[in-house]
Amino acid sequence: MSVDIAIDLGTSNTRIYVAGKGMVLDEPSVVTINLDTDDVIAVGNEAYNMMGRTSQRLSSCEPLKGGVISDIYLVEKMIKIQLGKANVSRIVKPRVVACIPGEITDVEKRAVVNSIYSLGVRSVSLIESSKAAAMGAGLDISSPHGRLVIDIGGGTTDIAVISLGDISASRSMKTAGVDFDEEIIKYVRRKYNLIIGKVTAQAAKIEIGAVVKPEVDKTCIVKGRNTVTGLPHAVEIRSSEIFEPLQDIAISIAQQVQDVLEEAPPELIGDIYKDGIILTGGSSQIFGFDQLLKNHVKLDVHIAENPSSCVINGCGFALKYIGQQEVDENGAVNPLSMPY
Ligand SMILES: Nc1ncnc2c1ncn2[C@@H]1O[C@H](COP(=O)(O)OP(=O)(O)OP(=O)(O)O)[C@@H](O)[C@H]1O
Ligand SMILES: [Mg+2]
Repeated sequence: MSVDIAIDLGTSNTRIYVAGKGMVLDEPSVVTINLDTDDVIAVGNEAYNMMGRTSQRLSSCEPLKGGVISDIYLVEKMIKIQLGKANVSRIVKPRVVACIPGEITDVEKRAVVNSIYSLGVRSVSLIESSKAAAMGAGLDISSPHGRLVIDIGGGTTDIAVISLGDISASRSMKTAGVDFDEEIIKYVRRKYNLIIGKVTAQAAKIEIGAVVKPEVDKTCIVKGRNTVTGLPHAVEIRSSEIFEPLQDIAISIAQQVQDVLEEAPPELIGDIYKDGIILTGGSSQIFGFDQLLKNHVKLDVHIAENPSSCVINGCGFALKYIGQQEVDENGAVNPLSMPY
């Protein structure tokens, strides 16, 4: 039996979708290896739980950076194990849809395609993540109506105006969730002489992070090592003290959205003016981003339902376009492209 599958190899999370079933796996894109033997010890949730806690012999690494593969060997191992966990490896020679960021070099694209072909699949079709995000947010991208969709993930932000299945204006930035985490790490070190890990910073961001000054000031305790004494230490941090560095990142994204709006054809801008902007991706949930963007571009901004799953669900919906004609009878472009 052959069933088609979709794969979203995200910087932070790997997601797998099986036709007829929906999303079957959603786990961190992390691999733990034994440095002596190069053996993979753990992937996904298990590997994430070991991050920053491994001995000298083990290392937990993230084989994707800025939305692209930085270690193809580990990515191949990771997907193979994840497909096994999700019971997908029993599917014989599936056809696969995989998503890629909007701006990606041919070499980076080939790395994605080769890592998926290494699984023994029948074919690989690619889709830009903003098109997948739009479909996963429930939009009909084949209509002539213009939409502005933003996907803010862990390593990339994709901004695109879409109509008739195609992109009219876009930007892809390597600024996203991980940058918020890094700002928190830098701030805590500067202000409190405390070194904290990536997992702690990410948890603090989700708990108290904000990109506009919050009315209710939330607090959380972060633990790490004091740079002066070298000893374990904990401090309480507040939303109101970390929002400024986080806001700078959000403003840089809002400026790129403005650039895309300036480039988009006027008829499509009219549609976007009416409908507003759709936000997807895990990082679209950082407190206040929708408000900040609304103030910046003076348009309505809506966060999609289940923003983290929009891209994989959209890749799943796009399975129906495999093998379809490039342009349909209404002039809509097939959102899938063949890699070679
Ligand atoms: N409630 C939340 N508030 C703020 N950030 C969040 C929240 N939930 C998840 N995130 C962040 O979203 C990011 C992951 O989003 P997502 O799963 O869309 O990324 P990805 O698809 O793996 O990455 P990319 O598309 O950039 O390659 C992480 O940085 C995570 O910390
Ligand atoms: Mg993503």
